[in-house]
Formats: sequence, structure tokens, C-alpha cells
Amino acid sequence: AIETRLHETPGKINHKIDLDSPKVATQEKLGAGDKKVYCRCWQSGTFPLCDGSHMKHNEATGDNVGPLIVSVAKA
Ligand code: FES
Repeated sequence: AIETRLHETPGKINHKIDLDSPKVATQEKLGAGDKKVYCRCWQSGTFPLCDGSHMKHNEATGDNVGPLIVSVAKA
């Protein structure tokens, strides 16, 4: 369960994404009319994009995290 994983390494929030990297960072170029939904809970199976896993995390932990939604106006 999510709570068990969080307690395995106190203080860490990332338990599965690019664990060998010193820092996980993502850069994307967006174009006019683009819309992206980015994960902020670190539970997504499609990281850095949100796949809705935050809902399961919130139900299991009582947390209230959700995605960052970015949209670019059409030219
Ligand atoms: Fe992480 Fe949606 S899956 S914010």
C-alpha cells in the first residue's frame, strides 16, 4: 500500500521514478493550444503526466494532492 511505501524511507516522496538520478527534472516545449496535466503526487504511472493515481493516494492517506494543469492559448 502507498502508506507502507512512504514509511520505508522516511522523508522521501519519490519511490519509483529515476531513482539513480540525483534529481528528477523535466523540460517540455509547449505550443499554441497545447494542454498538459502534470503529476505532483509522484504516484503516476505516466510521470511526469498525471494518470489519476492521486485520487487513490488521497483516499488511502487523507491527503489532498492533485495535478498541475498547464494550457497555452491558441495563437
Ligand atoms: Fe499524480 Fe495525478 S497522478 S497528480
